[in-house]
Amino acid sequence: MSHQAPESLPRVTLPQIHAWAREGRRLVMTTAYDAPTARIADAAGVDMILVGDSVGNVCLGFENTLPVSMAMMNHHLEAVARTRPRALLLADMPYLSFHLSVEDTLRNAGGFLQRGAAGVKLEGGAKRLPMIHALLDAEIPVMGHLGLTPQSLNPMGGYKVQGRARADALALLEDAHRLQEAGCFARVLEGIPADLAARITETLHIPTIGIGAGPACSGQVLVFHDILGLTPDPGPKFVRRYAQGFQDLRNALAIWAEDVRAGAFPDARESYTLPEAVRSAVAQWNP
Ligand code: KIV
Repeated sequence: MSHQAPESLPRVTLPQIHAWAREGRRLVMTTAYDAPTARIADAAGVDMILVGDSVGNVCLGFENTLPVSMAMMNHHLEAVARTRPRALLLADMPYLSFHLSVEDTLRNAGGFLQRGAAGVKLEGGAKRLPMIHALLDAEIPVMGHLGLTPQSLNPMGGYKVQGRARADALALLEDAHRLQEAGCFARVLEGIPADLAARITETLHIPTIGIGAGPACSGQVLVFHDILGLTPDPGPKFVRRYAQGFQDLRNALAIWAEDVRAGAFPDARESYTLPEAVRSAVAQWNP
């Protein structure tokens, strides 16, 4: 397998993402929430790293993404950005960070860029256009997100596949085009039928990044912890596990715990020694 070490390659830029999409190269995006996950994702050579608001349910123990705040997102983005990934770094606008006013939206998204993101992702279709226009005017690249948008959990009545009914499918097509016309550089399509995602993709010239939207999208995104088996089973239908992270890490920790209890950890390999002269002084010392 010819595989150039990611660190020897130039940093991924937005024009590069578009060039790859035009060449028909499928784009790869995953999430990262801290330095270790960012380093692993970047070393694997993904094209884009998203600090997703999924940090809320994946890392922070919330039931959904609604409680995630700008302060939480900034904290996690800063940790990821400090690793200076080669992948294009994007940050997710959490619930209420782009709903209140244009000024608030710009301050929040601009803060992401000042912390090292190259662009932002936000959920929603045409009704978010005023905020999207303002962001683009302020030179902030925007990735849209349509379909099963987790921040719309309540109006959707749960995490349900979207766009199955005729009117919903046509509305999604319409929305996708409105976001493209507005100037979004790409959009996530989540939880929609594969044939609808295929039609959206073939009628747009900007890339579509699918999650539960079938194979015809210009690229795919999955949550880091889902790919690696670190989230509880059963995951959603659209997840494929490429490692049994939970079991493997639990087994490793259980073996370490056994070694500690048996006195087998640490041994000389993990211990420091005194210089000979100090050792005899220490041995001769009495209270
Ligand atoms: O927050 C997130 O992780 C996401 C991706 C799964 C697209 O929005």
